[in-house]
Amino acid sequence: MRVLGIETSCDETGVAVYDAAGGLLAHGLHSQAALHAIYAGVVPELASRDHVRKLLPLVNRVLQEAGAGLGSIGGVAYTAGPGLAGALLVGATFGRVLAYALNVPAVAVHHMEAHLLAPMLEPDPPEFPFVALLVSGGHTMLVEVRGLGRYRILGESLDDAAGEAFDKTATLLGLPYPGGPALAELARRGDAGRFRFPRPMTDRPGLDFSFSGLKTFALNAVREHASDVQSRADIARAFEEAVVDTLAIKCRRAIEQTGTGTLVLSGGVGANQRLRERLEALAKSRGVRICYPQPALCTDNGAMVAYAGCQRLMRGETEPPKIAIRARWPLDSLRAPAAAG
Ligand code: KG4
Ligand code: ZN
Repeated sequence: MRVLGIETSCDETGVAVYDAAGGLLAHGLHSQAALHAIYAGVVPELASRDHVRKLLPLVNRVLQEAGAGLGSIGGVAYTAGPGLAGALLVGATFGRVLAYALNVPAVAVHHMEAHLLAPMLEPDPPEFPFVALLVSGGHTMLVEVRGLGRYRILGESLDDAAGEAFDKTATLLGLPYPGGPALAELARRGDAGRFRFPRPMTDRPGLDFSFSGLKTFALNAVREHASDVQSRADIARAFEEAVVDTLAIKCRRAIEQTGTGTLVLSGGVGANQRLRERLEALAKSRGVRICYPQPALCTDNGAMVAYAGCQRLMRGETEPPKIAIRARWPLDSLRAPAAAG
């Protein structure tokens, strides 16, 4: 089966063609970062309008690159949530209507399930069951994954997501949106020992996270010290160290608690080099395998949506001919497709 995947949940228009037999044939991305930069965050209405402008040309380009005519598409997968309602509606409307016109099935994909399955696109993919650390701009969670649609949330953020904390702290440091990669870059020049940020919620048992306090800590540090460039780099380094450390401590606990043999890292913050290195060291010390997607498939993209949609479509799942999105959509409300057993 060959699937066209569409991602428009936030500020990236992503399109891909995934073929169950031939793998990922092509994928393309249009980032709205420059559009939102002057506002230091995503402006939902501007995001929706830009998706409207960019989606159709991107679909045409990706189909061409894949060497796939519309007639060869056997199903359409689109992100239906969670995300920004207006942005989601663009991809959902386009995807559902295209499937209707082509007389092929369509499937509504959960954005976090797509992130979760993204490492499956790599050459040596993980095998079920595994534990996944999902770290994006909107979510931070540890999930026990037993199979497609079989998810148990072990812990999640009670307030800001890790990516959100990166972005907000980056803004405090005067860095341009989107802040995560810029903060990581600044942190490279920082001294790890000068500031010591707390490791929230690691002093008590459990796998939940809380990152909003780090932002306040950063604010105070910036107010006191950020007049010079080196201090800003030191604050960035200490902040990154605290987030990475906290995530690693919770991953270690999740490995111990579940006895899993595989740890998966995905979502935008999964592109962070320091986090990858730390989790690699952790996995090695525990005799656990670690898998993550290449950086371009950690952040939002159409390929993961095409892949997740293909898995569900191949098991017979399909949406009725109506357009439905869910701005809020708990991951653990998903079920395995009936045919998957
Ligand atoms: O998964 P994603 O592309 O979109 C959401 O589903 O939210 O994640 C975006 C988040 C942003 O907060 C961005 O700053 C963060 O991922 N991010 C990073 C890095 N690359 C992206 N954070 C830290 N280091 C990075 N290298
Ligand atoms: Zn995402």
